[in-house]
Amino acid sequence: MADFDYDVLVIGSGPGGYVAAIRAAQLGLKTACAESRETLGGTCLNVGCIPSKALLNASELFHEASSGALAKHGVKLGSVELDLPAMLADKDDAVKGLTGGIEFLFKKNKIDWLKGLATFVDAHTVEVAGKKATAKNIIIATGSSVTPLPGVEVDNDKGIIVDSTGAIALKKVPEHMVVIGGGVIGLELGSVWKRLGAKVTVVEFLDQILPGMDGEVRKEANKLFKKQGFDIKTSTKVTGVAVKGKKATVSVEPAAGGAGETIEADVVLVAIGRKPNTDGLGLDKIGLETNKRGQIETGHDFSTKVDGVWAIGDVIPGPMLAHKAEDEGVAVAENIAGLTGIVNHDVIPSVVYTHPEIAGVGLTEEAAKEKGAVKVGKFPMLANSRAKAIKDTDGFVKIIADADSDKVLGVWIVASPAGTMIAQAAQAMEFGASSEDIAYTCHAHPTHNEAVKEAAMAVTGKPIHI
Ligand code: FAD
Ligand code: NAI
Repeated sequence: MADFDYDVLVIGSGPGGYVAAIRAAQLGLKTACAESRETLGGTCLNVGCIPSKALLNASELFHEASSGALAKHGVKLGSVELDLPAMLADKDDAVKGLTGGIEFLFKKNKIDWLKGLATFVDAHTVEVAGKKATAKNIIIATGSSVTPLPGVEVDNDKGIIVDSTGAIALKKVPEHMVVIGGGVIGLELGSVWKRLGAKVTVVEFLDQILPGMDGEVRKEANKLFKKQGFDIKTSTKVTGVAVKGKKATVSVEPAAGGAGETIEADVVLVAIGRKPNTDGLGLDKIGLETNKRGQIETGHDFSTKVDGVWAIGDVIPGPMLAHKAEDEGVAVAENIAGLTGIVNHDVIPSVVYTHPEIAGVGLTEEAAKEKGAVKVGKFPMLANSRAKAIKDTDGFVKIIADADSDKVLGVWIVASPAGTMIAQAAQAMEFGASSEDIAYTCHAHPTHNEAVKEAAMAVTGKPIHI
């Protein structure tokens, strides 16, 4: 057998890549990870999950303090000021702490960080910064980047037409932000700047925001965001953006065609999806092709069709989510080590971290009905004692169960802590729970999660509190 520099070489240090590297090292494999960024952690830690959540939290605090919303709890404040540079510095500090933490974990686990862009030379060799490194197994975890909108050129330095990376670093609060794309990024980052004082218009091509989510949840979200003051233009397409001086003019028209209009904005956020990163990897050198969507196809064990080459995370099919990438990172390392690493792709929760949060796991009601008869139980947060006590009652819990077996097929939650609440649903589904199992599980009182129990009670019988 040939001698290799490493047992495992991971390309990319995002949540997929760094987790795969750590698990491989934990399993006794000699491991390296190539990363071209200045810091480890990929999109998620540097410009994605972490900075966006830091800003969502800080902007919510500002909004609560400045809007007078705290007065209803008996907290009266004098004048409230926004210190945007301090807020951005706090976000940068969170990023620094977490990316530095990965560097510490790499050292602790004796993982070599190969600094630079990795390109395949052959299936067991990559070149990084002019040096070749060989490995018995190479894991592609190169992640994704922003999908460009033809004719709309992003320039994050200028700060007028930006993508998510530009939108987490704006130097001042825009008067009017136009968001192209009513998906997760548009609504999360639109919420940040809305709370800090911007007018926000969301232009969405489809007839509803948040594609992929349960129909009722999408409708409820649309209603709640409009109530918060978002201007949401669905079934509308952007045909161009012209920048003159410090202003942008966004041209839009109905998606089905018809008379157009223009919208003046000082910041335009392009958030129409993300595409897998495979350019410059040299996949042709190893005879690996991508599918029509630019993704690398793998088997259930995350092996590609090239022996010794594996792929995980945003670069392969499935939801582009950090926790999916992480779980695949653990599984691929275990498979390489000869164990059995499995990810149940039917039970991957997704969360939109707005206020309220919006979360789901499993099938939507629409998708479940296509497979067979279902029973649905719903419970409004308005009837949940904890939500009532803290005067934060928007949303509901919805449970979709198989009509015959009662097995839970999907759970959808709109509630301020929906992202935390959804974990119990994911665990129940992972254990193959029926709605009755959830209904007869004792839930602590008063908690938001009691709404999950009551929604489960609503599937077959009657909830107590409505
Ligand atoms: P990435 O995190 O994209 O990491 C890939 C890394 O590989 C990058 O650092 C890149 O520099 C490096 N790389 C690429 N090519 C090479 C090469 N040839 N050589 C060396 N290095 C290379 N997901 C959630 O679950 N929750 C959230 O709250 C959330 N919020 C988000 C907010 C924003 C604004 C964005 C943009 C994304 C968010 N996501 C969130 C999605 C999440 O960031 C991704 O799903 C996740 O980062 C994917 O992990 P990954 O390891 O596949 O790739
Ligand atoms: P998205 O796929 O969530 O939403 C993009 C939206 O843009 C869709 O609604 C789509 O219909 C619309 N669109 C596409 N082309 C358009 C056009 N020309 N004009 C108007 N609208 C158009 O993508 P987004 O928001 O860019 O996020 C990318 C990915 O990043 C997400 O899919 C998600 O996987 C990940 N992410 C996850 C987060 C989380 O888990 N909380 C937060 C942020 C991002």
